[in-house]
Amino acid sequence: MEMHPDCERIMYTEEQLRKRVKELAEQVDKDYRGKTPLVVGILKGSIIMYADFIRHLTMPVELDFMAVSSYGSGAVSSGKLNIKKDLDKDVKGRDVIIVEDIIDSGFTLANLKRLLEERGAASVKIVTLLDKFERREYDIASDYNGFLIENEFVVGYGLDYNEKYRNLPYIGILRRSVYE
Ligand code: IMP
Ligand code: MG
Repeated sequence: MEMHPDCERIMYTEEQLRKRVKELAEQVDKDYRGKTPLVVGILKGSIIMYADFIRHLTMPVELDFMAVSSYGSGAVSSGKLNIKKDLDKDVKGRDVIIVEDIIDSGFTLANLKRLLEERGAASVKIVTLLDKFERREYDIASDYNGFLIENEFVVGYGLDYNEKYRNLPYIGILRRSVYE
């Protein structure tokens, strides 16, 4: 497949992504043997990874989704997490696995994890595809992460810039000229 002209280069190919997500799922599969976790996908960025991830889990799983947006993330640390779509399921007593595309400042996942714990989840673990570790501002880490990446803006495989590029099958670095 041709690279999208708005991308500077491909960071991870479709094959690399598929292979790594399978490895993450196999690890989770081992760790959750005998349990029935609630797998929570964070819309919309996680959808492609989510679909690839769950098909490698062999224990019974229940699926659910949340959509969130953050106000003031980055610039102001007093930002608030805005829930645009909440879970259908009650998390009380459940082993929750959050699936998210990328952890950047950590604001989103730090707040989400706390929220689900406050609602009485038995456990909350985080699976991310990408970790921009240099950008972390909040005390949070993913329990399972695909790739540590440098501070570059990436799109594809679910990740967007202004809602575009989510459908690219690879992860590409977006050209600066597109957003500067
Ligand atoms: P955090 O709350 O600062 O950790 O930001 C996490 C959210 O920022 C992710 O769910 C993405 O929506 C978005 N994000 C951060 N970096 C990128 C990127 O390089 N490409 C696309 N979205 C990103
Ligand atoms: Mg997102």
